[in-house]
Amino acid sequence: MYEGAVNHFTKEFKTQPDIAACAPGRVNLIGEHTDYNDGFVFPMALPMVTVVVGKKNGKQTCSVVTMAKEADSPTRVEFPVPSKQKLTPGEPKWANYVKGVVQNFKGSVLGFDAVIDTSVPIGGGLSSSASLEVAVYTFLEALTGQTTQQKKEKALACQAAEHDFANMPCGIMDQFIATMGEKGTALFIDCRSMEAKSVPMTDPEIAIIITDSKVKHNLASSAYAERRQQCYQGAQILGKSSLRDATLPQLQALKNKELLYKRAKHVVTENNRTEQAAKALQEGNLKKFGELMNESHESLRTDYEVSCSELDELVNAARSCPHVLGSRMTGGGFGGCTVTLATAKHADKVIDAIKNNTKLKPTFYITKPSGGARVLSI
Ligand code: ADP
Ligand code: GAL
Repeated sequence: MYEGAVNHFTKEFKTQPDIAACAPGRVNLIGEHTDYNDGFVFPMALPMVTVVVGKKNGKQTCSVVTMAKEADSPTRVEFPVPSKQKLTPGEPKWANYVKGVVQNFKGSVLGFDAVIDTSVPIGGGLSSSASLEVAVYTFLEALTGQTTQQKKEKALACQAAEHDFANMPCGIMDQFIATMGEKGTALFIDCRSMEAKSVPMTDPEIAIIITDSKVKHNLASSAYAERRQQCYQGAQILGKSSLRDATLPQLQALKNKELLYKRAKHVVTENNRTEQAAKALQEGNLKKFGELMNESHESLRTDYEVSCSELDELVNAARSCPHVLGSRMTGGGFGGCTVTLATAKHADKVIDAIKNNTKLKPTFYITKPSGGARVLSI
């Protein structure tokens, strides 16, 4: 993919690129819809990455080409280097992620030409968008020689790009793990302090299987903003700055507001499960980890109501297989992917079992925790 991007750059810009950077997609093992509640998440970076190759152009413009077939047209855009005149989102939509990062970069951007390609499935819930943002940011660091010392700041700048330019009020998980992921470990992240603890995930007897439903319901982004709002309302009624500070007994105060109660219950119990899961993994208790994954899915299905029939079907299909320790939806919900923990030597059997128990045509990835954003030598 990297070589393809270099060749494409040479064709488009009639010169060789001299800077390259990449950032990964992610899968969240547990801790869903907790990040924007100041809670805990437990994602890992994927081997699939977005790559940006390019060079300075000596002008006051940025010319960017995406090779992604899924991107809306045109696939080549040009916009000015931000000055007092700020960049604004517009069409094509894909370029908003790039412009948002250029606008939010903590340094002075120089004019550049760049080509982007990705192996992260686009729109599949594995965070191709955060991987694009963080890859562009890392590219700009290399381009300008201005590296943002605090990686948290870098993740926050990319999150701001998504909020302001893609109109998606996401939490910090995706940008954080794309920035700070580490090979062989999942990251237990406290989204309040933004401190992360690496938990090794290198047991060769365990497989992490991602199943992509290939389904995405339109509801996804409006429902996400609605859930966020409901959590905010719930916390306000409880007199808390966020649901991170609420306990289960305290939720009784929401009992006459059934919907807010259910949403808050998911968040409080999910934070608890995520802490337990990190501990279980550290202790090598994968059975417990799998049980917590199953419980997480049930909570997302019944209390938070962000699953859908397709994700439930895939999770049930996985669980019908005796070699599966746990299976759950991952990411925002309403389509996208499930994540399944299984014994490695039976991974193929698990995939067959899922295929045989669904009417969907999913795709599968047997995956390992991989590195975060990095500059590539060219
Ligand atoms: P995901 O879970 O993959 O992040 P989103 O719907 O949040 O799903 O983001 C997908 C959007 O991100 C795409 O529709 C496109 O606008 C943009 N995007 C992601 N990767 C690329 C890429 N390589 N080139 C252009 N646009 C991309
Ligand atoms: C994602 C979002 C994350 C997180 C997740 C649910 O789509 O980008 O910030 O909130 O949903 O856990």
